Amino acid sequence: MTRLLILGGTKNLGRHVVEAALRDGHEITLFNRGLTKPGLFPEAKQLIGDRATPDALEVGEWHGVIDLSGFLVGDVRRTAELLRHRVARYTFMSSIAVYASKTQPGMTEDAELLPWPAGTSDDEFTMDLYGPHKVRAERVLAEVYGERAASVRSGFVVGPYNPDFGNWGEALATGKAPECAARPDQPIQHLDARDLAAFLLRLTIDGPGGAFNAVSSTTTMAELADAWRSAVPDALPVDWDPAVDRFHLPNDGSNDGTFQLSNARAVAAGLQVRPAEKSARACVEWIKAGNTPPPPPH
Ligand SMILES: NC(=O)c1ccc[n+]([C@@H]2O[C@H](COP(=O)([O-])OP(=O)(O)OC[C@H]3O[C@@H](n4cnc5c(N)ncnc54)[C@H](OP(=O)(O)O)[C@@H]3O)[C@@H](O)[C@H]2O)c1
Repeated sequence: MTRLLILGGTKNLGRHVVEAALRDGHEITLFNRGLTKPGLFPEAKQLIGDRATPDALEVGEWHGVIDLSGFLVGDVRRTAELLRHRVARYTFMSSIAVYASKTQPGMTEDAELLPWPAGTSDDEFTMDLYGPHKVRAERVLAEVYGERAASVRSGFVVGPYNPDFGNWGEALATGKAPECAARPDQPIQHLDARDLAAFLLRLTIDGPGGAFNAVSSTTTMAELADAWRSAVPDALPVDWDPAVDRFHLPNDGSNDGTFQLSNARAVAAGLQVRPAEKSARACVEWIKAGNTPPPPPH
């Protein structure tokens, strides 16, 4: 049994992290504002607070912290410094949006990262600043924790509670055509939220530290769609020109490198990637049980 502090933990990916940690017998403390699904995990200790003023974290010791709610470098710096002598390991949920190039195939974790736009405040957020904030948050953690920090870079995270690639889960659950406003040969990487949760826990308990591309190997949208379609009998063909653009990737190759990352370092550190049809089957069953997936991320 290990004492873990989870920053976030109640919405999409975080739910899988908390469920897996509780299943493994760990003692969990959640820190969030208490707005998203309050009372979801009665077995966990709950600390209420905002990342901007994390006073509730001034007391307590944990083996590790998993940071799922770090979108601003200012927020991550506050918790990093506040917890530095009271947690052994700090695992940060970063993103594949950190890379400077969106076209170069085969990027490892050492590829060039996005610059910080001059004149921007540490607590200012726009979607254009999502990647730059993650880059700087990773650097803050490396400075404060060294090898005790891990930064996990993922992209499309799918599974129950999480968005999928548009209407795929819902379409397959209800006999409609899966829609996809992307090139059929568009490269794509993905990861089941349950595999990502297991990897986050593994790094937080045993290490190693550093940055990790936590993604599947590269496939194409057509191959991925076929894998999802194989989850149900008699799935309809994909509609590659849907009237509603729920899931869009640039068609001109300008984003292809983002989904051809090397995952070798993460796999060597223990990342396991289940086949896409297993994620699809879990999503379809979850939707058939009456759940509605959240909209795709942009
Ligand atoms: N596709 C993906 O899912 C994907 C891909 C790459 C990276 N990521 C990263 O994964 C992380 C998010 O995953 P998730 O949304 O699934 O996580 P989550 O942990 O399930 O949900 C977000 C949590 O953060 C809490 N929170 C939000 N704002 C807060 C604030 N100001 N102060 C304190 N707590 C706050 C929310 O609770 P309250 O509302 O109650 O505060 C909620 O528990 C992010 O760091 C994201 O960048 C996700």
